[in-house]
Amino acid sequence: MKRRILAAAAGAALALASLAACGDSGSDSGSGSGSDKITLGFSQVGAESGWRTANTKSIKEEAAAAGIDLKFADAQQKQENQIAAIRSFIKQKVDVIAFSPVVVTGWDAVLKEAKAAGIPVVLTDRAVDSDPSMYVTFLGSDFVEEGKKAGQWLVDEYKDSDETVNIVQLEGTVGAAPAIDRKKGFAEVIKANPNLKVIASQSGEFTRAKGKEVMQALLKAHKDIDVLYAHNDDMGLGAIQAIEEAGKKPGEDIKIITVDAVRDGMQALADGKINFIVECNPLLGGQLMEIVKKVHADEPVERRIVTEETVFDQEAAKKALPSRQY
Ligand code: AHR
Repeated sequence: MKRRILAAAAGAALALASLAACGDSGSDSGSGSGSDKITLGFSQVGAESGWRTANTKSIKEEAAAAGIDLKFADAQQKQENQIAAIRSFIKQKVDVIAFSPVVVTGWDAVLKEAKAAGIPVVLTDRAVDSDPSMYVTFLGSDFVEEGKKAGQWLVDEYKDSDETVNIVQLEGTVGAAPAIDRKKGFAEVIKANPNLKVIASQSGEFTRAKGKEVMQALLKAHKDIDVLYAHNDDMGLGAIQAIEEAGKKPGEDIKIITVDAVRDGMQALADGKINFIVECNPLLGGQLMEIVKKVHADEPVERRIVTEETVFDQEAAKKALPSRQY
Protein backbone atom coordinates (compact mmCIF):
# COMPACT_ATOMS: atom_id res chain seq x y z
CA MET A 1 0.00 0.00 0.00
CA LYS A 2 2.81 2.35 1.08
CA ARG A 3 4.66 1.56 -2.15
CA ARG A 4 1.52 2.35 -4.21
CA ILE A 5 1.14 5.75 -2.54
CA LEU A 6 4.83 6.52 -3.15
CA ALA A 7 4.54 5.46 -6.80
CA ALA A 8 1.43 7.63 -7.28
CA ALA A 9 3.19 10.61 -5.66
CA ALA A 10 6.24 10.12 -7.88
CA GLY A 11 3.99 9.95 -10.99
CA ALA A 12 2.14 13.13 -10.05
CA ALA A 13 5.43 14.93 -9.29
CA LEU A 14 6.79 13.91 -12.72
CA ALA A 15 3.66 15.15 -14.50
CA LEU A 16 3.74 18.47 -12.62
CA ALA A 17 7.46 18.86 -13.32
CA SER A 18 6.84 18.38 -17.06
CA LEU A 19 3.93 20.82 -16.87
CA ALA A 20 6.05 23.42 -15.07
CA ALA A 21 8.87 22.97 -17.59
CA CYS A 22 6.44 23.53 -20.48
CA GLY A 23 4.92 26.54 -18.81
CA ASP A 24 8.36 28.08 -18.27
CA SER A 25 9.28 27.80 -21.94
CA GLY A 26 6.62 30.31 -22.91
CA SER A 27 6.54 32.42 -19.76
CA ASP A 28 7.35 35.70 -21.53
CA SER A 29 4.08 35.68 -23.39
CA GLY A 30 0.36 34.96 -23.04
CA SER A 31 -2.63 36.93 -21.88
CA GLY A 32 -1.39 36.88 -18.27
CA SER A 33 1.77 38.86 -19.22
CA GLY A 34 0.34 41.39 -21.62
CA SER A 35 1.88 39.97 -24.86
CA ASP A 36 -0.16 39.87 -28.10
CA LYS A 37 0.63 36.19 -28.62
CA ILE A 38 -2.23 33.75 -28.11
CA THR A 39 -1.48 31.31 -25.29
CA LEU A 40 -2.73 27.75 -25.76
CA GLY A 41 -2.66 25.19 -22.96
CA PHE A 42 -2.66 21.68 -24.44
CA SER A 43 -3.02 18.50 -22.39
CA GLN A 44 -1.89 15.44 -24.33
CA VAL A 45 -2.88 11.86 -23.44
CA GLY A 46 0.71 10.56 -23.32
CA ALA A 47 3.15 8.89 -25.69
CA GLU A 48 1.56 5.46 -25.94
CA SER A 49 1.75 4.95 -29.71
CA GLY A 50 3.30 6.02 -32.99
CA TRP A 51 0.05 7.87 -33.69
CA ARG A 52 0.40 9.89 -30.49
CA THR A 53 4.04 10.79 -31.24
CA ALA A 54 3.02 12.08 -34.69
CA ASN A 55 0.09 14.00 -33.16
CA THR A 56 2.32 15.69 -30.57
CA LYS A 57 4.87 16.65 -33.24
CA SER A 58 2.12 18.11 -35.43
CA ILE A 59 0.72 20.19 -32.56
CA LYS A 60 4.12 21.53 -31.47
CA GLU A 61 5.26 22.34 -35.02
CA GLU A 62 2.00 23.99 -36.07
CA ALA A 63 1.82 26.07 -32.87
CA ALA A 64 5.33 27.38 -33.56
CA ALA A 65 4.45 28.08 -37.22
CA ALA A 66 1.29 29.95 -36.19
CA GLY A 67 3.15 32.03 -33.59
CA ILE A 68 1.04 30.58 -30.79
CA ASP A 69 2.58 30.23 -27.33
CA LEU A 70 2.03 26.54 -26.51
CA LYS A 71 2.03 25.25 -22.96
CA PHE A 72 2.22 21.49 -23.49
CA ALA A 73 1.58 18.89 -20.77
CA ASP A 74 1.96 15.10 -21.18
CA ALA A 75 -0.52 13.25 -18.93
CA GLN A 76 1.18 9.84 -19.14
CA GLN A 77 -2.19 8.20 -19.89
CA LYS A 78 -3.68 9.34 -16.54
CA GLN A 79 -6.88 11.33 -16.28
CA GLU A 80 -5.87 12.87 -12.94
CA ASN A 81 -2.77 14.34 -14.62
CA GLN A 82 -4.92 15.85 -17.37
CA ILE A 83 -7.28 17.41 -14.83
CA ALA A 84 -4.29 18.84 -12.92
CA ALA A 85 -2.85 20.24 -16.17
CA ILE A 86 -6.16 21.90 -17.13
CA ARG A 87 -6.46 23.42 -13.64
CA SER A 88 -2.91 24.75 -13.99
CA PHE A 89 -3.79 26.29 -17.39
CA ILE A 90 -6.80 27.99 -15.79
CA LYS A 91 -4.56 29.36 -13.04
CA GLN A 92 -2.09 30.65 -15.61
CA LYS A 93 -4.99 32.39 -17.44
CA VAL A 94 -4.19 30.91 -20.86
CA ASP A 95 -6.35 32.18 -23.74
CA VAL A 96 -7.55 28.78 -24.96
CA ILE A 97 -7.36 25.24 -23.55
CA ALA A 98 -7.28 22.20 -25.81
CA PHE A 99 -7.00 18.57 -24.81
CA SER A 100 -7.27 15.02 -26.04
CA PRO A 101 -9.20 13.28 -23.25
CA VAL A 102 -7.76 9.93 -22.22
CA VAL A 103 -11.24 8.61 -21.33
CA VAL A 104 -14.80 9.72 -22.11
CA THR A 105 -16.21 10.25 -18.60
CA GLY A 106 -15.34 12.43 -15.59
CA TRP A 107 -14.75 15.88 -17.11
CA ASP A 108 -17.78 17.88 -15.91
CA ALA A 109 -16.16 19.57 -12.90
CA VAL A 110 -12.98 20.78 -14.62
CA LEU A 111 -14.89 21.90 -17.73
CA LYS A 112 -17.18 23.94 -15.49
CA GLU A 113 -14.11 25.54 -13.89
CA ALA A 114 -12.74 26.53 -17.32
CA LYS A 115 -16.12 27.95 -18.31
CA ALA A 116 -16.39 29.92 -15.07
CA ALA A 117 -12.92 31.36 -15.78
CA GLY A 118 -14.10 32.38 -19.27
CA ILE A 119 -11.51 30.17 -21.04
CA PRO A 120 -12.80 28.40 -24.17
CA VAL A 121 -12.05 24.68 -24.45
CA VAL A 122 -11.42 22.77 -27.69
CA LEU A 123 -11.49 18.96 -27.77
CA THR A 124 -9.08 17.29 -30.15
CA ASP A 125 -8.90 13.64 -31.21
CA ARG A 126 -11.21 12.13 -28.55
CA ALA A 127 -14.69 12.91 -27.25
CA VAL A 128 -16.13 13.35 -23.73
CA ASP A 129 -19.65 12.64 -22.47
CA SER A 130 -20.09 16.11 -20.90
CA ASP A 131 -22.73 18.55 -22.13
CA PRO A 132 -21.52 19.96 -25.49
CA SER A 133 -22.10 23.51 -24.19
CA MET A 134 -18.99 22.96 -22.01
CA TYR A 135 -16.64 23.10 -25.00
CA VAL A 136 -16.50 25.11 -28.22
CA THR A 137 -15.81 22.37 -30.75
CA PHE A 138 -14.51 18.86 -31.20
CA LEU A 139 -11.88 18.22 -33.90
CA GLY A 140 -11.11 14.58 -34.66
CA SER A 141 -11.91 11.30 -36.37
CA ASP A 142 -15.20 9.43 -36.52
CA PHE A 143 -14.10 6.32 -34.63
CA VAL A 144 -17.38 4.43 -35.19
CA GLU A 145 -16.86 4.89 -38.91
CA GLU A 146 -13.29 3.55 -38.57
CA GLY A 147 -14.63 0.41 -36.85
CA LYS A 148 -17.21 0.01 -39.61
CA LYS A 149 -14.52 0.22 -42.30
CA ALA A 150 -12.53 -2.51 -40.51
CA GLY A 151 -15.65 -4.69 -40.26
CA GLN A 152 -16.58 -4.12 -43.90
CA TRP A 153 -13.20 -5.38 -45.10
CA LEU A 154 -13.77 -8.59 -43.14
CA VAL A 155 -17.32 -9.03 -44.42
CA ASP A 156 -16.04 -8.66 -48.00
CA GLU A 157 -13.05 -10.93 -47.40
CA TYR A 158 -15.26 -13.81 -46.20
CA LYS A 159 -18.30 -13.22 -48.38
CA ASP A 160 -17.89 -16.56 -50.24
CA SER A 161 -17.07 -18.66 -47.18
CA ASP A 162 -19.62 -20.54 -45.09
CA GLU A 163 -17.19 -21.60 -42.36
CA THR A 164 -16.91 -20.05 -38.91
CA VAL A 165 -14.28 -17.29 -38.69
CA ASN A 166 -12.80 -16.90 -35.20
CA ILE A 167 -11.86 -13.29 -34.47
CA VAL A 168 -9.88 -11.92 -31.53
CA GLN A 169 -9.97 -8.22 -30.78
CA LEU A 170 -7.30 -6.09 -29.09
CA GLU A 171 -9.14 -3.09 -27.68
CA GLY A 172 -7.61 0.30 -26.89
CA THR A 173 -7.50 1.94 -23.45
CA VAL A 174 -10.55 1.00 -21.37
CA GLY A 175 -13.09 3.85 -21.41
CA ALA A 176 -11.38 5.76 -24.26
CA ALA A 177 -13.56 6.97 -27.13
CA PRO A 178 -11.59 5.17 -29.87
CA ALA A 179 -11.76 1.87 -27.97
CA ILE A 180 -15.51 2.14 -27.39
CA ASP A 181 -16.39 3.36 -30.88
CA ARG A 182 -14.07 1.16 -32.94
CA LYS A 183 -15.49 -1.87 -31.16
CA LYS A 184 -19.05 -0.66 -31.72
CA GLY A 185 -18.66 0.12 -35.44
CA PHE A 186 -16.92 -3.20 -36.11
CA ALA A 187 -19.60 -5.21 -34.26
CA GLU A 188 -22.40 -3.43 -36.14
CA VAL A 189 -20.99 -4.31 -39.55
CA ILE A 190 -19.85 -7.91 -38.99
CA LYS A 191 -23.38 -8.78 -37.81
CA ALA A 192 -24.14 -9.08 -41.55
CA ASN A 193 -22.36 -12.46 -41.58
CA PRO A 194 -23.20 -14.76 -38.64
CA ASN A 195 -20.07 -16.84 -39.38
CA LEU A 196 -17.90 -13.96 -38.18
CA LYS A 197 -17.48 -14.57 -34.45
CA VAL A 198 -15.54 -12.50 -31.93
CA ILE A 199 -14.27 -15.24 -29.58
CA ALA A 200 -12.18 -12.97 -27.32
CA SER A 201 -11.79 -9.24 -26.80
CA GLN A 202 -9.31 -7.65 -24.39
CA SER A 203 -7.60 -4.31 -23.86
CA GLY A 204 -4.02 -3.93 -25.06
CA GLU A 205 -3.98 -0.29 -23.88
CA PHE A 206 -2.95 1.00 -27.32
CA THR A 207 0.68 -0.04 -26.68
CA ARG A 208 2.98 -2.45 -28.50
CA ALA A 209 4.15 -4.17 -25.31
CA LYS A 210 0.64 -4.83 -24.01
CA GLY A 211 -0.54 -5.88 -27.47
CA LYS A 212 2.17 -8.54 -27.51
CA GLU A 213 1.46 -9.70 -23.96
CA VAL A 214 -2.30 -10.03 -24.51
CA MET A 215 -1.84 -11.78 -27.86
CA GLN A 216 0.54 -14.31 -26.27
CA ALA A 217 -2.19 -15.18 -23.77
CA LEU A 218 -4.87 -15.33 -26.48
CA LEU A 219 -2.74 -17.66 -28.61
CA LYS A 220 -2.36 -20.00 -25.63
CA ALA A 221 -6.08 -19.94 -24.85
CA HIS A 222 -7.34 -20.31 -28.45
CA LYS A 223 -5.72 -22.66 -30.94
CA ASP A 224 -8.05 -21.66 -33.76
CA ILE A 225 -7.70 -17.88 -34.27
CA ASP A 226 -8.40 -16.84 -37.88
CA VAL A 227 -8.43 -13.05 -37.58
CA LEU A 228 -7.00 -10.36 -35.30
CA TYR A 229 -8.67 -6.95 -35.19
CA ALA A 230 -6.41 -4.50 -33.27
CA HIS A 231 -7.68 -1.00 -32.46
CA ASN A 232 -4.29 0.48 -33.44
CA ASP A 233 -1.13 -0.37 -35.35
CA ASP A 234 1.06 -0.55 -32.24
CA MET A 235 -0.99 -3.30 -30.61
CA GLY A 236 -1.11 -5.10 -33.97
CA LEU A 237 2.69 -4.87 -34.28
CA GLY A 238 3.15 -6.26 -30.76
CA ALA A 239 0.73 -9.07 -31.61
CA ILE A 240 2.70 -9.87 -34.80
CA GLN A 241 5.76 -10.59 -32.63
CA ALA A 242 3.67 -12.92 -30.46
CA ILE A 243 2.24 -14.70 -33.53
CA GLU A 244 5.71 -15.19 -35.07
CA GLU A 245 7.13 -16.44 -31.78
CA ALA A 246 4.25 -18.96 -31.67
CA GLY A 247 5.44 -20.27 -35.06
CA LYS A 248 2.56 -18.82 -37.11
CA LYS A 249 2.59 -16.48 -40.10
CA PRO A 250 0.92 -13.11 -39.48
CA GLY A 251 -1.18 -12.03 -42.47
CA GLU A 252 -1.60 -15.66 -43.62
CA ASP A 253 -2.31 -18.06 -40.73
CA ILE A 254 -3.96 -15.17 -38.90
CA LYS A 255 -5.35 -12.26 -40.91
CA ILE A 256 -4.77 -8.88 -39.29
CA ILE A 257 -6.73 -5.63 -39.45
CA THR A 258 -5.48 -2.52 -37.59
CA VAL A 259 -6.25 1.20 -37.34
CA ASP A 260 -3.93 4.26 -37.71
CA ALA A 261 -1.63 3.73 -40.74
CA VAL A 262 1.57 5.01 -39.09
CA ARG A 263 4.80 4.17 -40.94
CA ASP A 264 5.62 0.95 -39.00
CA GLY A 265 2.09 -0.31 -39.53
CA MET A 266 2.22 0.56 -43.23
CA GLN A 267 5.57 -1.24 -43.56
CA ALA A 268 4.09 -4.39 -41.99
CA LEU A 269 1.12 -4.08 -44.37
CA ALA A 270 3.43 -3.73 -47.38
CA ASP A 271 5.42 -6.75 -46.10
CA GLY A 272 2.24 -8.87 -46.00
CA LYS A 273 2.11 -9.19 -42.19
CA ILE A 274 -1.01 -7.02 -41.88
CA ASN A 275 -3.89 -7.35 -44.35
CA PHE A 276 -5.79 -4.08 -44.01
CA ILE A 277 -5.37 -0.76 -42.20
CA VAL A 278 -8.02 1.88 -41.55
CA GLU A 279 -6.41 5.30 -41.47
CA CYS A 280 -6.69 7.58 -38.42
CA ASN A 281 -4.99 10.88 -39.20
CA PRO A 282 -2.85 12.33 -36.35
CA LEU A 283 -1.89 15.53 -38.20
CA LEU A 284 -4.41 17.72 -36.39
CA GLY A 285 -2.04 20.57 -35.47
CA GLY A 286 -2.77 22.88 -38.42
CA GLN A 287 -6.55 22.69 -38.06
CA LEU A 288 -6.27 23.08 -34.30
CA MET A 289 -4.27 26.31 -34.59
CA GLU A 290 -6.81 27.72 -37.06
CA ILE A 291 -9.59 26.93 -34.60
CA VAL A 292 -7.65 28.48 -31.71
CA LYS A 293 -7.15 31.71 -33.67
CA LYS A 294 -10.84 31.90 -34.56
CA VAL A 295 -12.01 31.14 -31.05
CA HIS A 296 -9.66 33.79 -29.67
CA ALA A 297 -11.00 36.32 -32.18
CA ASP A 298 -14.59 35.41 -31.20
CA GLU A 299 -15.30 34.11 -34.71
CA PRO A 300 -17.74 31.21 -35.13
CA VAL A 301 -16.41 27.65 -35.52
CA GLU A 302 -18.26 24.47 -36.43
CA ARG A 303 -19.31 22.40 -33.40
CA ARG A 304 -17.86 19.19 -34.86
CA ILE A 305 -15.00 18.93 -37.36
CA VAL A 306 -14.44 15.41 -38.67
CA THR A 307 -11.01 14.41 -40.00
CA GLU A 308 -10.85 13.04 -43.54
CA GLU A 309 -9.40 9.54 -43.71
CA THR A 310 -8.91 6.60 -46.06
CA VAL A 311 -8.10 2.86 -45.91
CA PHE A 312 -5.11 0.85 -47.16
CA ASP A 313 -4.70 -2.68 -48.47
CA GLN A 314 -1.26 -4.18 -49.14
CA GLU A 315 -0.87 -2.71 -52.64
CA ALA A 316 -2.01 0.76 -51.53
CA ALA A 317 0.50 0.65 -48.64
CA LYS A 318 3.39 -0.06 -51.02
CA LYS A 319 2.44 2.99 -53.08
CA ALA A 320 1.87 5.31 -50.10
CA LEU A 321 4.94 4.36 -48.04
CA PRO A 322 7.62 6.45 -49.79
CA SER A 323 5.75 9.70 -49.12
CA ARG A 324 4.25 8.80 -45.74
CA GLN A 325 4.91 11.68 -43.31
CA TYR A 326 4.63 9.72 -40.06
O1 AHR B 1 -7.20 8.55 -30.12
C1 AHR B 1 -6.46 8.06 -31.20
C2 AHR B 1 -5.84 6.76 -30.84
O2 AHR B 1 -5.00 6.92 -29.72
C3 AHR B 1 -4.93 6.13 -31.89
O3 AHR B 1 -5.60 5.32 -32.79
C4 AHR B 1 -4.05 5.32 -31.04
O4 AHR B 1 -2.92 4.83 -31.71
C5 AHR B 1 -3.76 6.28 -29.97
O5 AHR B 1 -3.10 5.82 -28.90
